[in-house]
Amino acid sequence: MSQIKHSAKPGEKDQLILILDSKDLKSNFLSKEEIAFVKEAVANKRFLVQFNNEGKLKLVIVSEEQSGWKLSESLRKAGAKSLGILNENGKESVSIITEIAHNALAFAEGMALANYSFTKYKSKPKENSLKTIRIVSKNIDAKSIQNLSIIIESTYLARDLVNEPHSFLTSLQISEEFKKISKKAGFTIEVWNEAKIASQKMGGILAVNKASKIPPTFNILEYKPKNAVNKKPYVLVGKGVVYDTGGLSLKPTPKSMDIMKCDMAGAAVVAGVMNAVAKMELPLYVIGLVPATDNWIGENSYAPGDVITMYDGTTVEVMNTDAEGRLILADTLHYAKKLKPELVCDFATLTGAAVRAIGSYATAVLGNADDTIKTSIFESSYAVFERLVEFPLWEDYAKELKSEIADMTNLGKGEGGQISAAKFLEHFTDYPWMHFDIAGPAFIDSVDSYKTAGGTGVGVRLMVDFLSKQVAKK
Ligand code: BES
Ligand code: MN
Ligand code: ZN
Repeated sequence: MSQIKHSAKPGEKDQLILILDSKDLKSNFLSKEEIAFVKEAVANKRFLVQFNNEGKLKLVIVSEEQSGWKLSESLRKAGAKSLGILNENGKESVSIITEIAHNALAFAEGMALANYSFTKYKSKPKENSLKTIRIVSKNIDAKSIQNLSIIIESTYLARDLVNEPHSFLTSLQISEEFKKISKKAGFTIEVWNEAKIASQKMGGILAVNKASKIPPTFNILEYKPKNAVNKKPYVLVGKGVVYDTGGLSLKPTPKSMDIMKCDMAGAAVVAGVMNAVAKMELPLYVIGLVPATDNWIGENSYAPGDVITMYDGTTVEVMNTDAEGRLILADTLHYAKKLKPELVCDFATLTGAAVRAIGSYATAVLGNADDTIKTSIFESSYAVFERLVEFPLWEDYAKELKSEIADMTNLGKGEGGQISAAKFLEHFTDYPWMHFDIAGPAFIDSVDSYKTAGGTGVGVRLMVDFLSKQVAKK
């Protein structure tokens, strides 16, 4: 992990990155010859120019004629690219020099996000060389740099949790991780064990956990600062299936079960966002809820055709044990009712259908929150470039969940499966609610700019941006 610092001038040994405006190509850090070279490059549509004077790298980034989120995103990508060059050359520190604070932050964000690596299980870890990112800009406040550092740390934290295999990260261990995070960040946590979950009759969680050797946990994370601007909490729910075999409706291995340690990516979003709001000391009352279990297979497995009774009393005919996420989320969404929430946002690697619909480049979003909330969520989506595609919650899809013998089934048609899954969840809500199906973007098989291979932490930056902006709106 690299540290982001604020500084009046570049460090002695720093490599330099200059972010210049194409209309104003000048810098105290460039010679006349270098400026001429940059101008020529820009004329040829090259916007990243590299100088190497006796081992000292100078990278010049010229912001193209863009503005707003397009500019921010191209700077994040340029940050990731520059990071690659610095690490390849074994450089340890860099100064980003620009007049425009916003540009420096986006560039540093891309750089720091790209500098993530998960080396815990390598016996000879190859650490990235870059350790210090200095932002040299007159017009920047310490607070925005501190907040950026917290957002990076929180995204790293979510990536770490997703990258941890089930051999370490069980339903019990994820609670231990939450406890560590809560202590350091300054929020509280309550963990329900199997006996408590059973006494509450959380039938969805118990059914999914039935074949497991490891008991489920129900995790309640709470951040309630004295100066909170809201009385009703913002509630974040995260699917915490620490491993999904599919159960008796067993998954095939390649590109399916082999990546199913990622099925708690929603839980990782909740942990990352709780970490960020507490560390940023946002004056906001936020609660995180995570039901955690694996979806195992064994002699005690729940079976297709079984009827289970959910926490809210609804009976569900389980037509496919691989549609387990909605069962544990349903109990959690029912629990959220008694919190009288302002808004509930759930994050879940819920359906292959979402992946087939939009691939790994966006999150499928469905919900019934009012238009001001939706607009605000979409604004944040652009601000952080975590793209969302909204799908409808039409009643037609609820019809697919009709059961002959129970109140409903857990299995809709294959087509538009991300929608029938959301309709199932909707049944257990009675408050403004948004559902984020992150099955596509949560876990990627190879690096994509500042998104490293494996867990991406998608959802964390989106929610932190959204919640930060709610403070001002209250
Ligand atoms: N965890 C999976 C969804 C998933 C797929 C996550 C790909 C990440 C990448 C979920 O529990 C699941 O198995 N969903 C089934 C539901 C179906 C049986 C209705 C699916 O989408 O195939
Ligand atoms: Mn499944
Ligand atoms: Zn799953």
